[in-house]
Amino acid sequence: MFNLYNPAEISSRATAAFIGMAIGDALGATVEFMTASEIAAKYGTFKEIIGGGWLRLKPGQVTDDTEMALCIARAIVENQGWSVEKIAHNFAAWLKSRPVDCGDTCRKGIRAYMLNGTLESPPNEWDAGNGAAMRIVPVALFSLPDGELLKKYALEQAHITHNNPLSDAACICLGELLHLAICGASRTRLRRQADGLVARFPTFHFEPYRGLATGYVVDTLQTVFHWFFKGKNFEECVVGTVNQGADADTTGAICGMLAGAYYGMEGIPQRWLKKVDRNVISEINMLAGRLIAASPAG
Ligand code: AR6
Ligand code: MN
Repeated sequence: MFNLYNPAEISSRATAAFIGMAIGDALGATVEFMTASEIAAKYGTFKEIIGGGWLRLKPGQVTDDTEMALCIARAIVENQGWSVEKIAHNFAAWLKSRPVDCGDTCRKGIRAYMLNGTLESPPNEWDAGNGAAMRIVPVALFSLPDGELLKKYALEQAHITHNNPLSDAACICLGELLHLAICGASRTRLRRQADGLVARFPTFHFEPYRGLATGYVVDTLQTVFHWFFKGKNFEECVVGTVNQGADADTTGAICGMLAGAYYGMEGIPQRWLKKVDRNVISEINMLAGRLIAASPAG
């Protein structure tokens, strides 16, 4: 299955997946909720990390996408193993810290945990937001390269807030794509994996691309897949994605994780790496290393 098993390469790609996610989040947040034509009118092609946007961010500031992924990563590293309770605890502490933003379904699930200790939301047709998928990177790193462990962890973390077949399928597929890309799989191999999701859930079909980039996980993944498979480098993939606007921080974060895993640290533009909050980058570096070291691949 894997055509590359070089520990240094794996560790670099794993770190790049996590950092790529933070970069896509910080870049996309500026244009979140804008339309593609509004972005074009204001910026031409939007491609610099400048903060602002509806959340009035500092340049390089990340949002809930990255913060929730950090909650999961810290829970695993601090607990020295998988604990869904510890993850929910970190989500709750994060929500109490008054984060800059939080999705509605995320908030509902975390509140249920805070009130009743619930670790699994009941199945809900409307839990198909992208909030569980956006935080999948630490789960992919910690389970590498075990597909069964990936599924178990992906669903347990997702169900704290989102219990929905489309969200579940998206979380697992993204985790599998991260596993493959981190281990050096080709673009053709990754495309086959994405096509597998479309075969099981045709609603995810992304060719021809419909141009919707909302927080509905179906729209989100269509946008990410379209631009990830079209782009020739990390920057092209992520710029194409966030210039669709709408839920641009989250589409940017998810495209950034895949492109980071696929193109590695060398593919990430230095000007973006330097712009993102230093404390976030250094913590991600530390956590990514520990997650891989603690994984079956470590
Ligand atoms: N069909 C169509 N749309 C749906 C469905 C469905 N079955 N289910 C959900 N949606 P939200 P999250 C839409 O707000 O997943 C932060 O901003 C729903 O109408 O519950 O908790 C992050 O940056 C809504 O428009 O978000 C992410 O953007 C959308 O899915 C986001 O929150 C997102 O649902 C993630 O958190
Ligand atoms: Mn968002």
